[in-house]
Amino acid sequence: MSDKQILLEQIRADILTNNICPDLAKTATNLVMGDGNIDAEIVFIGEAPGKKEDEQGLPFVGAAGKFLYKMLVSANLQRSDVYITNIVKYRPPDNRDPLPAEKKAFLPYLMRQLDVIQPKIVVTLGRHSMEYFLPEQKISLVHGQPKTVMLEGTTVVVVPLYHPAAALYNGSLRATLIEDFMQLSTIIKTLEKETEK
Ligand code: URA
Repeated sequence: MSDKQILLEQIRADILTNNICPDLAKTATNLVMGDGNIDAEIVFIGEAPGKKEDEQGLPFVGAAGKFLYKMLVSANLQRSDVYITNIVKYRPPDNRDPLPAEKKAFLPYLMRQLDVIQPKIVVTLGRHSMEYFLPEQKISLVHGQPKTVMLEGTTVVVVPLYHPAAALYNGSLRATLIEDFMQLSTIIKTLEKETEK
């Protein structure tokens, strides 16, 4: 196991040992930590696992996930180019919105994941995941726009996007999200050029 894998396993173990969100843990089947490339420069952060994610122990494997992966491909990215996780790591019953206390309880563990992976770009999916990185912002105003944020002493570019589940059944949001994904390729290319300099 690489050092990063060991550190990420430790985060999972700490969530269990510290009995984070015991009510959610009782109704969930799996703790869904994340999936993808732990050396990726881009991390996607969703909200919380749904039914399929809970069953399989992996994020974004249901309908929203399929749509997300289609858009990744359209942005010239593959699952293996990115790491994907959620703020809340247990499925809330009946897919209800995560509660503020649940988001707060999982936040230190999300921060530790980011600290291990050290991405250059954090893509937030939906307002729950955006609110920590870009507080006070409205997703309808800032979606698709890269924002530079200091995170525990490191500069990270945060790109807020609409949640793929919200866009699945809403034609205009869907078109906006697809456009924002196209922009994401440009943002990534620009950042790559800047780091080459
Ligand atoms: N929606 C999310 O926010 N996360 C998942 O993992 C699946 C659906």
